[in-house]
Amino acid sequence: MTRTVVVSGGGTGIGRAVCAAFASEGAQVVAIGRREDVLNRTAKELTERHTAQGGRVRALPADLTLPEEADRVRDELRAVHGTVDVLVNSAGGNVLIGAPEGADEGTAGASWHWTENFRANVLTAVLLTEAVRPVIASPGGRIVMVSSIAAYRGSGAGSYAGAKAALHPYVYDLAAALGPRGVTVNAVAPGYIAQTEFFGLQGHAGARHDLLVSQTHTGRAGVPEDVAGTVQWLCSPSASQVTAQIVQVNGGAERGR
Ligand SMILES: NC(=O)c1ccc[n+]([C@@H]2O[C@H](COP(=O)([O-])OP(=O)(O)OC[C@H]3O[C@@H](n4cnc5c(N)ncnc54)[C@H](OP(=O)(O)O)[C@@H]3O)[C@@H](O)[C@H]2O)c1
Repeated sequence: MTRTVVVSGGGTGIGRAVCAAFASEGAQVVAIGRREDVLNRTAKELTERHTAQGGRVRALPADLTLPEEADRVRDELRAVHGTVDVLVNSAGGNVLIGAPEGADEGTAGASWHWTENFRANVLTAVLLTEAVRPVIASPGGRIVMVSSIAAYRGSGAGSYAGAKAALHPYVYDLAAALGPRGVTVNAVAPGYIAQTEFFGLQGHAGARHDLLVSQTHTGRAGVPEDVAGTVQWLCSPSASQVTAQIVQVNGGAERGR
């Protein structure tokens, strides 16, 4: 059966690897993000790479912090695909990374980064999920959130970690609500993952990279495919009894060194 798979943040990093994993299975994948050019490039490259398997990736630009955009996405998905088999919410990031110096100072700064990390990480996942909820395949549908090791360990100023942690009870409640419909709901919480845009211009080198790698038991940075493989498994028939779970993918770094 050809599955319809929707991936927010599908243009880059972890979301892009998730798109590739499902395209390699022959799925019809819809990649969502704000930058149309980035999405189009990803869609073209992955469709060319996985045509032989019957996979196709299509770009659907949208800002998922806005309810009307999430509703527009749902209407388009319903019109083109009817139902959605898999929804992966990978859009997000820490708004403090790359922010101008001093942007987080004082109550105004705190208000800014707590609000914006909530919008970037909670609203993007909740609004898309609530919009798509009526068209999730039943039974057999799969919903996966992308959380973070920060939800367990903190993120420095707390707002990014708090936003990711907020997804966990949402996973539990949604899994309970959708279980009777035969839909599973889980989250994957990655540790440090290189080859993404998460760290912006800081990139994946230098003292911070070395520190994060040193905290793993595996002695390496994660790569987007590590997360995509776990997402793919959660959405496979062999994981049909796995729901309301947060699966950590961090090389053991949560335990620390
Ligand atoms: N890399 C890590 O070390 C790491 C660790 C733990 C958790 N995570 C989480 O993993 C997820 C994927 O991040 P990544 O590492 O792959 O970084 P990334 O390459 O920056 O991917 C984030 C994606 O989210 C999209 N996005 C952001 N805001 C959006 C919005 N309002 N509407 C629609 N799309 C939006 C971005 O595209 P546009 O800018 O074009 O919208 C981008 O494609 C994030 O939720 C992140 O918090 C990452």
